[in-house]
Amino acid sequence: MNKNEVIDILNFRHACKEFDPNKKISSENLEVIIEGGRLAPSSIGIEPWHFLVIENQELKDELSKVCFGGKTQIPTCSHFIIYLTRTPKEIRSDSEYINYLLKDVQHLPDDYASNMRNFMKSAEDMIGDDENMQSYANEQTYIALSSMMLSAAMLNIDSCTIGGIDRDAVEKILIDRNLLDKEKFRVTVGCTFGYRVHDSKPKLRQPLNEVFTLVK
Ligand SMILES: Cc1cc2nc3c(=O)[nH]c(=O)nc-3n(C[C@H](O)[C@H](O)[C@H](O)COP(=O)(O)O)c2cc1C
Repeated sequence: MNKNEVIDILNFRHACKEFDPNKKISSENLEVIIEGGRLAPSSIGIEPWHFLVIENQELKDELSKVCFGGKTQIPTCSHFIIYLTRTPKEIRSDSEYINYLLKDVQHLPDDYASNMRNFMKSAEDMIGDDENMQSYANEQTYIALSSMMLSAAMLNIDSCTIGGIDRDAVEKILIDRNLLDKEKFRVTVGCTFGYRVHDSKPKLRQPLNEVFTLVK
């Protein structure tokens, strides 16, 4: 890929406000988008996310009523992804999930796993209380979100982050459908994916020379 192609992809991605309800993302492309999240980086490799990929129209319509930032996007999109993030209890160094991650996913020998747990414990002590731990975990989930939007753009698939949500109401809907266990996960953000109906506007951004300082 050359540099113009990279810039084209970055410009292609925009906050798409309305999708063509008749155009659905193929399962092959959806898998690539999800890979964008699965392969995203996270602090100490904790992968605190889970992606609820909603294609059920009735559920999308219901959720759109409590997501003020996604009134047109959620009902028209092909897939609405709700980004869940593990709770502080789940990502503490002595949790079952961290044990699974170190042993079954990363295949660390016992002494390495124990060192990693100690390292995680010192990070945890620095981060502090549950509120800070949840924010720390949410930050990782946003990185996965960004990676998924860019993966989609590479496939000419549009997206729109939906941060304008009533979290409590969304969580209630998910709990009622047995899609969320609040002890383990909380809702962080949403993102709609699909195909645009309107052309995007040129990007309005600060000039390049104002957003960075090169230190030689
Ligand atoms: C964390 C976050 C939350 C956002 N929430 C919403 C939202 O609820 N509804 C919406 O239409 N756009 C939302 N956006 C899109 C931004 O408004 C948009 O990315 C920004 O204005 C820049 O425009 P562009 O993405 O088209 O380049 C959100 C973006 C981010 C990063």
